[in-house]
Amino acid sequence: MSNYPVDMSVTPEVEAFFDPDTNTISYVVKDPATTSCAVIDSVMDIDYAAGRITYGHADAMIVYIQDNGLKLEWIIETHVHADHLSAAPYIQEKLGGKIGIGDKIMVVQDTFGKVFNEGTEFQRDGSQFDALFQDGDTYQIGTMQAFTMYTPGHTPACMVHVMGNAAFTGDTLFMPDGGSARADFPGGDAGMLYDSIQKVLSLPDEMRLFMCHDYGPNGRDIQWETTVGDEKAHNIHVGGGKSRGDFIKFRTERDAQLAMPRLIIPSLQVNMRAGEVPKDKDGRPVLKVPVNGL
Ligand SMILES: [Fe+2]
Repeated sequence: MSNYPVDMSVTPEVEAFFDPDTNTISYVVKDPATTSCAVIDSVMDIDYAAGRITYGHADAMIVYIQDNGLKLEWIIETHVHADHLSAAPYIQEKLGGKIGIGDKIMVVQDTFGKVFNEGTEFQRDGSQFDALFQDGDTYQIGTMQAFTMYTPGHTPACMVHVMGNAAFTGDTLFMPDGGSARADFPGGDAGMLYDSIQKVLSLPDEMRLFMCHDYGPNGRDIQWETTVGDEKAHNIHVGGGKSRGDFIKFRTERDAQLAMPRLIIPSLQVNMRAGEVPKDKDGRPVLKVPVNGL
């Protein structure tokens, strides 16, 4: 593995917020030495049939941060999610903090700018975000150092964020009995996903891993925390030394049978804008549905 600044001596406090509508887990991560914290992968609620947006999930995180007297420094997106909408701007307006994502967001913006036939007012340079990370970049949450790893495959802009002995995997990995996320969205690649997962599994065995999604396979309760050691031993798609070739074959066949996520159309339009809902020419928030565009 390249020289990532791993520091297993720091144990951040991690509070999880599960969203049952999209099976997303959002996190508040606190520096153990100060009151500084970060939010990972927040959720904005949408009733898509009604075109109605609300903030119950985000408000629960905001109340938690306020009640504990925390200072929000970062609002992190592990990638451009296709199954839920980000509440990053809403949280930023209430609590401050910088919104950060991987710099490959520009690739995603270019791809989906075309799918949604966006005009030139939609910038494809990532400028909607406050920070664009490259592989190995570091940032501070109080005295705690975080670093980023490129983990493309599920999407081109996926990154894993590591803070002390906690890593936030986004959709690069699921719980051991959940396996891995699909790799068939535009810009996705099963081989790249395998390589990215190996990179995550080269972190120390004791590294805590926090998932972005869990669907409770085989009727078990929802879970979101595991370790590198557990994933290496037990992950049903990549554990036990499964080969790259076998993974690509399996992933490709599986993905061909998956339906589009229920909220992919609103999610992409909002998340590629760092969580802002697009506006029509009169400044009203509006989402569009490209017919046969995906
Ligand atoms: Fe995703």
